[in-house]
Amino acid sequence: MRVLVTGASGFVGSNLVHLLRERCDVLAPSHAELDLTTTVPPKVDAIVHAAIWNALDGLLANRRKAWAGYVEATRNCVRSGARVVLVSTDWVFDGTQGPAREDEPPNPINAYGFLKAASELVVLEADGTVARIAGVQGVHRAKPETPRAQDAGFGYLVASVVDALSAGRPFTVWDSPDINRIATPVLATDAAELIWRALERRVTGILHCVGSEHVDRVSLARRAVEAYGLDMELLEVGAPPPQRERIPYDTRLDATETARRLDVELPDVNRLLEGLAWAST
Ligand SMILES: NC(=O)c1ccc[n+]([C@@H]2O[C@H](COP(=O)([O-])OP(=O)(O)OC[C@H]3O[C@@H](n4cnc5c(N)ncnc54)[C@H](OP(=O)(O)O)[C@@H]3O)[C@@H](O)[C@H]2O)c1
Repeated sequence: MRVLVTGASGFVGSNLVHLLRERCDVLAPSHAELDLTTTVPPKVDAIVHAAIWNALDGLLANRRKAWAGYVEATRNCVRSGARVVLVSTDWVFDGTQGPAREDEPPNPINAYGFLKAASELVVLEADGTVARIAGVQGVHRAKPETPRAQDAGFGYLVASVVDALSAGRPFTVWDSPDINRIATPVLATDAAELIWRALERRVTGILHCVGSEHVDRVSLARRAVEAYGLDMELLEVGAPPPQRERIPYDTRLDATETARRLDVELPDVNRLLEGLAWAST
């Protein structure tokens, strides 16, 4: 099978390439080689579409660029005639209906969630696959030195805590109703493995490619400190800076149906932390 991965130089895309290269023939054009806002990709057996214009502050300031970087880019993937797997997000939900099943209607509350939900429709109407991922932890395989910082989501939370405490610096994990407080995280390579199974089995529709366990951000940070044998005294809990947009509070995803369709046992948080420690060495 010939699979084109978009956004291959990004965090999620580089992990997709890392795993898929062990399984099939992978094309990984850079943004400079393939600008999806203007170009239809070549027809391959499947496209795993992970590229986005990742500038959350820019999405409202430059709405045409945002629409192009999400929805038009997705349309161009579909126009190629390849089977498309769109990498999507738990932020298509408003944060009040967790744990959300695959068939729960999305109701985004910020520009990013809206653009991802619109992109999902493009792919679903072409009988493609939507692979929602969430709270993604892992190593950036294309740019391992990328600074890892806490934000209003869960992405990179464990790496940010581990980076700080390993260097003897304190870390304040944010806790507030204004940010994404509880989610269903996944290791980037585990999400890639689930996406591979969807490709291999030609599973279409909406999938929740996440772990089996829901966790709040303070508990995840504490479990990471324990798992890595770091100093719990250095971990503090505090308020985040003010947020410019509304952030979904509880984005737990129920992935029971996905696990059944892909015939897998989903990894729990302990497995995520073990996998991350292994990937980081
Ligand atoms: N990270 C998370 O925690 C998380 C959680 C849920 C869902 N997701 C989803 O995962 C996907 C990837 O996110 P990420 O965190 O890996 O983002 P990222 O690291 O910022 O990567 C984005 C990638 O898209 C490329 N790109 C941007 N505009 C493009 C265009 N017009 N044409 C072609 N390529 C373009 C970028 O290339 P350049 O850098 O060269 O511009 C980069 O390789 C997204 O769909 C996101 O919604 C991520």
